[in-house]
Amino acid sequence: MQSNIEQLEAKAAAAALGGGQRRIDQQHAKGKLTARERIGLLLDEGSFEEWDRFVEHRCTDFGMDAQKIPGDGVVTGYGAINGRLTFVFSQDFTVFGGALSEAHAEKICKVMDQAMKVGAPLIGLNDSGGARIQEGVASLGGYAEIFQRNVLASGVVPQLSVIMGPCAGGAVYSPAMTDFIFMVEDSSYMFVTGPEVVRTVTHEVVTAEQLGGAGVHSRKSGVADLAIANDVEALLLTRRFFDYLPPNNREQPPRWPTSDPTDRACPALNTLVPADPAKPYNIIEAIHAIADEGTFFELQPDYAKNIVIGFIRLEGSTVGVVANQPMVLAGCLDIDSSKKGARFVRFCDAFNIPILTLVDVPGFMPGTAQEYGGIIKNGAKLLYAYAECTVPKVTLITRKAYGGAYDVMASKHLRGDVNFAWPSAEIAVMGAKGAVEIIFRKDKNDAALIQARTDAYQEKFANPFVAASRGYVDDVIRPHESRRRLCKAFVMLRDKRLRNPWRKHGNIPL
Ligand code: HXC
Repeated sequence: MQSNIEQLEAKAAAAALGGGQRRIDQQHAKGKLTARERIGLLLDEGSFEEWDRFVEHRCTDFGMDAQKIPGDGVVTGYGAINGRLTFVFSQDFTVFGGALSEAHAEKICKVMDQAMKVGAPLIGLNDSGGARIQEGVASLGGYAEIFQRNVLASGVVPQLSVIMGPCAGGAVYSPAMTDFIFMVEDSSYMFVTGPEVVRTVTHEVVTAEQLGGAGVHSRKSGVADLAIANDVEALLLTRRFFDYLPPNNREQPPRWPTSDPTDRACPALNTLVPADPAKPYNIIEAIHAIADEGTFFELQPDYAKNIVIGFIRLEGSTVGVVANQPMVLAGCLDIDSSKKGARFVRFCDAFNIPILTLVDVPGFMPGTAQEYGGIIKNGAKLLYAYAECTVPKVTLITRKAYGGAYDVMASKHLRGDVNFAWPSAEIAVMGAKGAVEIIFRKDKNDAALIQARTDAYQEKFANPFVAASRGYVDDVIRPHESRRRLCKAFVMLRDKRLRNPWRKHGNIPL
């Protein structure tokens, strides 16, 4: 018996050491943690239960039969974050560069299957050279098995990807199909083809960082939801983010204790919107003022900044926020912001997270760049997402709600449950000047008359009361009472039940 235990301990020690001390030192020298150190920071202390630490690859080509490391380059299992169950895999770059073998893929698939069976989220810590080159198609098959499970798990359990090293080739498509991607600055990158291939095919000369670093994906492509300074911060932020999410699509998000009073007045909101409708203001100030403890977990803060998305809590419960940002492009909806908003709305809808929409939108962005880029189809994504969505929707129009964008932004007509407006709201087909130039074109040479007509249009529509008189707005509220009114609305909606007609799936304009 004693020798059996010694054998176990020896094997366990070999598994724990991964690719060996030299490679661990190399990993640390790059400012990166090892796979196990990362899990240690991500999960509650002592909660990790590891599976498959003795799994080995089955490859016999290229001398691989003489190189077997227990665990085969990925640490898998389950544990807890603030007491709540999660499954996890963490690729070990010290073992064959974290490259994905058939056995490595089977380990990941096993935790994915179990996460779906018990209804718990899956967190992937990615650090891999991609397909294990020595294994050929067996490795590609392994990726496809993971892709298939990513799709089946989509909308069933939350899936989070933290990119903490290389992620190249088809390997990027597994994170791409998860719900959120966080990237570590300077040590992670994602691209479909690397700098060498790019140089050969397109003659562009770029570094890995310029092609697919955290900066690129958090600012230009929108692939990443956050770029985070280092491994430690990325893992701690992932823990904080996890606390907003429900375990699966059949359960509600967790409620956390809060000492922030529901009826806390927000006097700063009374003066947030400038008297001049052409002047911008920062909508994020409103979000902070309304949220429990002023806390807002913003996603994609550096991409398509004309729309703001992220999570707050109201009375301790998670609420997804979508807000036009008047500071950027006057809050116009364009291709990127529509896609950013639509995907977030669909995540919230899939996972029972109510949505607060803050509206200050002068319309869709005009111009050839937008039309050629397909603003029709892309803007329709946001429209579709809001219209399809059945979770509680509460809308607050702070200023402009013009044209099609009024309809899109969780209007009453798209089954908005509670629609509020501040007295500063302007709800109309378009701004007064543009409207008068169209409907009174014949008077265009009479400046005084045009001005008078503009004033009249402004007078009639630059307020929330026309919409309120039709019931399109449920109430016009004083800005300082916004938190109290929004909290009450979301509490009232807690047991909302709404179902769309049965169908295999809709056909969102992709
Ligand atoms: C097998 C690999 C490997 C791989 C790295 N290693 N990638 N082994 N298969 N894909 C091994 C290296 O041989 C080395 O072993 C160790 O991991 C560390 O790699 P280094 O190159 O020393 O590290 P570094 O300089 O940091 O460079 C990391 C890297 C580079 C940029 C990831 O290794 C690299 O370019 N690898 C190949 C990437 C690639 O082309 N993958 C296939 C993509 S296509 P030793 O023993 O020397 O320490 C793909 C298809 C997926 O993934 C399709 C899905 C549909």
